[in-house]
Parts: sequence; C-alpha cells; structure tokens
Amino acid sequence: MSTNPKSPAGNKVSVQTLQSKKLHGEPITFLTAYDYPTAVALDRSGIDGILVGDSLGMVVLGYENTLPVTMQEMLHHCRAVSRGVSRAHLVGDLPFMSYQASVADALRNAGSLLQKGGMDAVKLEGGRERVAAIKAIISAGIPVMGHLGLTPQSVHQLGGWKVQGKSAQAARMLIEDSLILEDAGCYAIVLESIPAEVAHLISNRLAIPIIGIGAGVGCDGQVLVAHDVLGLFDRFTPSFVKKYADLFSEMQRAFKEYISDVKERRFPAAEHSHAMDPQALRDLIREIEMQGCDYEHDDNQPPRLH
Ligand code: KIV
Repeated sequence: MSTNPKSPAGNKVSVQTLQSKKLHGEPITFLTAYDYPTAVALDRSGIDGILVGDSLGMVVLGYENTLPVTMQEMLHHCRAVSRGVSRAHLVGDLPFMSYQASVADALRNAGSLLQKGGMDAVKLEGGRERVAAIKAIISAGIPVMGHLGLTPQSVHQLGGWKVQGKSAQAARMLIEDSLILEDAGCYAIVLESIPAEVAHLISNRLAIPIIGIGAGVGCDGQVLVAHDVLGLFDRFTPSFVKKYADLFSEMQRAFKEYISDVKERRFPAAEHSHAMDPQALRDLIREIEMQGCDYEHDDNQPPRLH
C-alpha cells in the first residue's frame, strides 16, 4: 500500500509536529498564501505551515482592510492553496462575522474551511470572549489557532493598526488571554504587533507554540504575509517586515518590456509562432493567386492578401 502524502502517516506537518518543534526548541516557519503557485513554491521550499489569511482581502482583493472578506472568498482561496500542498500544515482564517454572532456560526464555518476548503486547522481572532466558540469547534475535532495582540478584524475598536500590549496592564491582559486560549484547547497562538518582551514571556509561559508577527525573536515561530516578503503589495509595508524581494518592480519591468516588444513587433518571434508545412503553404498561395489575389510574404511582417 502506498503512503498518502496528505495523511498524517506521510511527511505531512501536523499539530503534533508543530508541538514537538516547540518542545525541541526548533523555530517554526509560517507564511501566508492565497493561490496555487505560491502554495506549491512554499511547500517545495520546506515551510512548516501555510496560513490562508483573511489578509488576502487587502493584498489580493484590494479591500481597505480585512472586514469585507466573506466565507465564499476564503473558501475559494483555501481550495486553490490546498490543491498545491502535500506537506505543509494548512490553516484557514475564519473571516469577520463568520464566528462572532453565534457558536453555531463558528462551528459551521470552521467545518466548511476543513470540509470544503481543504484546511487542516482554523484561526480566529480574540481572547476570553471567544472561549465558547473555540471549545465548540475543538469538540468537533477541528484544531484552532488563536490570534491575539493587533487583531485586524477589530481595527476600528483598536483605533488603527497600532502596537498592542505596551502598558503593564495591557501586557497582563495579553498574558491572561493567552493562558485562557491555551486552557480552552488552542493548539497554537499567533501574536501580532506586540512588544518582543511580552511575546517572549508568553512563549516561555505556554506549552503550545507561539507564532509571532511583529512580536520579536523570542516566539516559537514566525509568520509574515507572503506579499510583504516578496514586495508585491504596493500600498504599504509594515515596519516589522523584512522584504526578501521586490517583485512588484520586477513585474512592472517585465510588463513594460512585453508592451514595448509587442508595439515594436519583436514579439512574437519565429520561435513563439506556429509555422505551416511548406508544401501546404505553397498549395495555399497557388490557390489564392488563382483566385486573383496577390500574396505578399515578408518574414518580418504579418501575411497580407491584396
Ligand atoms: O490574515 C493574515 O494574514 C494573518 C496574519 C497576519 C497572521 O492573520
């Protein structure tokens, strides 16, 4: 019997793999992906986990923030990513208002991300106020990743994209919420935009993996938005991002070269064109000439009938 590469028996990264990495002090690597080619590239690069984040609303769909993202949009992108992945652990974001209104909504939508989206786990934002939803989802056998600190779905409540947990009291709340999420059964927590010291403290205190984004080097792992890492998002780059490429400029360079090649008739060249069988072409020209038309042939120009 062959081993199914997607089954936990293969080399698929599971919740247990991530927890064992924390136990052995091995840094955990996550990036976001929203489409098939990025997912394939990440999987082949050896990433531990891929997050289909609702950040796709901003970096792929051009929304102002993550609030307009729907379950349908999440499922569409989750499916594309899952088709490209055989090894990495897959986490899908529950979008705004897919889990806040009722526990029943939370459970149904979390189930959809696994059943229809091909995800291995779901992520949702918030602390103590989410315990009932988290417990219900976990009781259905669905692993839940928490998300604390700067939670983008609460951007209006937070008054903007601001670093969280800076005061002693705010940091204490974050530590408490982390412990509550761990107690509720979350298998990992994302900490976004909080002081490195607070994230380090939480990582040391909790048994589950802490994945940081703008939360310093003391976390058990890191996650970033792939479009930020690749320099593909034109609007802004958060200060905590390290840009590993400038693909937006590279895309523009390639597109401009293509436009110029087409305008100057440098593209398509002979190697990009289909040639006719020479005898068939001679027959065709003879036929056309017999009909009284002239056939003008120049290798550098499109064929013309007169
Ligand atoms: O939506 C997302 O990409 C996220 C990460 C920023 C953690 O939640």
